[in-house]
Amino acid sequence: MRIISSTEEMQAACRELRRQQMPAGLVPTMGALHEGHLSLVRMARSQARTVAVSIFVNPLQFGPAEDYGRYPRTFASDCRMLEAEGVDIVFAPSVEEMYPPDACTYVFVEGMSDRLCGRSRPGHFRGVTTVVAKLFNIVLPGLAFFGQKDAAQVAVLRRMARDLNFDLSVIVGPTVREADGLALSSRNQYLDAQQRKSAAFLYRALSVIEKLAKEGESDTQRLIEAGKQVLAGVPADGAAVTLDYLEIADPETLKEVTNLQSDPNRGAMAAIAAYVGSTRLIDNVVLRPAVAD
Ligand code: PAF
Repeated sequence: MRIISSTEEMQAACRELRRQQMPAGLVPTMGALHEGHLSLVRMARSQARTVAVSIFVNPLQFGPAEDYGRYPRTFASDCRMLEAEGVDIVFAPSVEEMYPPDACTYVFVEGMSDRLCGRSRPGHFRGVTTVVAKLFNIVLPGLAFFGQKDAAQVAVLRRMARDLNFDLSVIVGPTVREADGLALSSRNQYLDAQQRKSAAFLYRALSVIEKLAKEGESDTQRLIEAGKQVLAGVPADGAAVTLDYLEIADPETLKEVTNLQSDPNRGAMAAIAAYVGSTRLIDNVVLRPAVAD
């Protein structure tokens, strides 16, 4: 497994792969790898002859009061895991390599970057789209793999790839969960035992919404209320869950959906973000409304 930190060297290696008609499958990550990332790596392995994984904690997508400084950095063990998965190239640039001091160009997906997480994390999606556009230009992948857990990120990146004519397909892998439903996230390691128990309520709330939608409830306000009631059931002696948002949105445009039946051809997802202690967690489920007989 090659580990490359220079953008020039990475671009030269990947240009050669493209020239040989076997562009890399790219899995962009910020490291602190878990089974969710590894499931994407396995997908990439099965669909691309060469697999590249980027590890870069991107300062541009963190707000000033967020966890950039304490975000877990576990490079050596990440590399051991990736080597065991048969990854060909790890791209791990420094911040200076990715953002020379005079860099002043950003990619911004207008009208989508301020929805869901973008509303409570101003600048977050601009940071994500800027770094991913750079990674696409450096790695020139044929396929790029992202997790469904970050559904809003997926929507924004798909739109960016389409609007800017990147010559690649965005592939989305399913959310990997713990036994109690908690979506795997590098941030789960911030949780203490009590917070870890409360964190499972996010998926419980989403599951209730999913079940009610399947049973025929199509009014999204009622679905959201049902989800909020689940969150209100966090035991009083447990760690509090503070809701940032619980919304039902179109997974492509991220616009709010008011009724699941109003346009049955369009999809809908229930998306949640909540703080457990000071840790912000996100999750979502795709809703499939009841089908009339
Ligand atoms: O999903 C992530 O880990 C990051 O947002 C990404 C796509 C690697 C960009 O920094």
